[in-house]
Amino acid sequence: MTRRRDDLAFEGFVVEARRFWMSDMWAALREDYERRSDGASVSTATDVERVLASSPTYACYAWLERHIQRTKYSGRYGLVRRFRDERPAGADTVDNLTLDPTLTIPDYYSAVDIHQHPGNLTDGPGAGLVYKASATSTQPGATGGYGLHERFAAWLGQFGVPRSVLDMGCGFGKSSITLAQRFPEAQVKGIDLSAPCLELAAVEGATAGLGNLAYRQADVRHAPFPEAAFDLVTSTMVLHELDESALRETLRESYRLVEPGGLVVHLDFRVKDPFLEFIHYGHSRRNNEPYMVTLNEMDIERELQLSGFTDVQTLPFEEVDGATRADWPTWRFPWTAFVARRPAA
Ligand SMILES: C[S@@+](CC[C@H](N)C(=O)[O-])C[C@H]1O[C@@H](n2cnc3c(N)ncnc32)[C@H](O)[C@@H]1O
Repeated sequence: MTRRRDDLAFEGFVVEARRFWMSDMWAALREDYERRSDGASVSTATDVERVLASSPTYACYAWLERHIQRTKYSGRYGLVRRFRDERPAGADTVDNLTLDPTLTIPDYYSAVDIHQHPGNLTDGPGAGLVYKASATSTQPGATGGYGLHERFAAWLGQFGVPRSVLDMGCGFGKSSITLAQRFPEAQVKGIDLSAPCLELAAVEGATAGLGNLAYRQADVRHAPFPEAAFDLVTSTMVLHELDESALRETLRESYRLVEPGGLVVHLDFRVKDPFLEFIHYGHSRRNNEPYMVTLNEMDIERELQLSGFTDVQTLPFEEVDGATRADWPTWRFPWTAFVARRPAA
């Protein structure tokens, strides 16, 4: 679809509004919080909530976060109107995708318009294009574009060069395309529930000439691959989109799918600082991502051990140099990698 001038203007508005929110508003909020919490006893997110209860700066910050996102998806210029009915060009000729029209979409998934995306990622042939536009062109900072995923794929290189990779919950392909590019000798498979996202991923993988990348419509809780089929199983930004029981099932499934001695790495979020936890939980409400709280409150390390993994590590992940510094000047997600190994046979 040709991008019209009014659509481009809208996109520019959203990016700049988000930039203002995540930098200027964030700085103002931090300053206000420091002032209000001076001398107060703060050890939990509930304490922070009390401190900020009458803060107009927090009210403004929260309102902007909710409504910039809502504007981005809905209404006259929103991404849903632009892309929902547009099937990605070339989707009917790709040979790197297996769809499963009989797949059942779980209730936890269809119950929520995740990211405030009306109808979620399965509504309309262009739902993948909607998601891609939201996650790239209308997103400032490190999470816009493919930079974070390229960095993650490079970071995985420290654990060795994989031969066979499964990317659980691959969305429109950001994570799997970057894995296939970084590890050209490996066979990479991406699975997801969303057929529109998979179609876009498959078209983009084929356009990039990635013969080592294939997609399949499947549920990460019980994927249609034999036991020990991969030496590396990954997910990026998927755990926080699963409810508690789906999350447990997915960890167990990642154990089943990785070979003895193989590695599982789930890149997601973990936060313990009371102020940042309060912000994260607020983001979870405002962005329609209820399971973010579930993930943060679960003992993932123990769940991984109960699934059979050893060598469980929880590592902060820097999406750009310096991002984990305490005085980092902009809002960011608390990126965290959960790394675990299936014991060698
Ligand atoms: C936030 S997106 C992340 C996509 C991609 N990994 C990335 O980093 O860009 C989460 C993805 O998980 C998928 N997902 C959620 N539950 C799933 C399930 N049970 N089986 C397969 N995919 C699932 C969603 O459809 C969505 O594409």
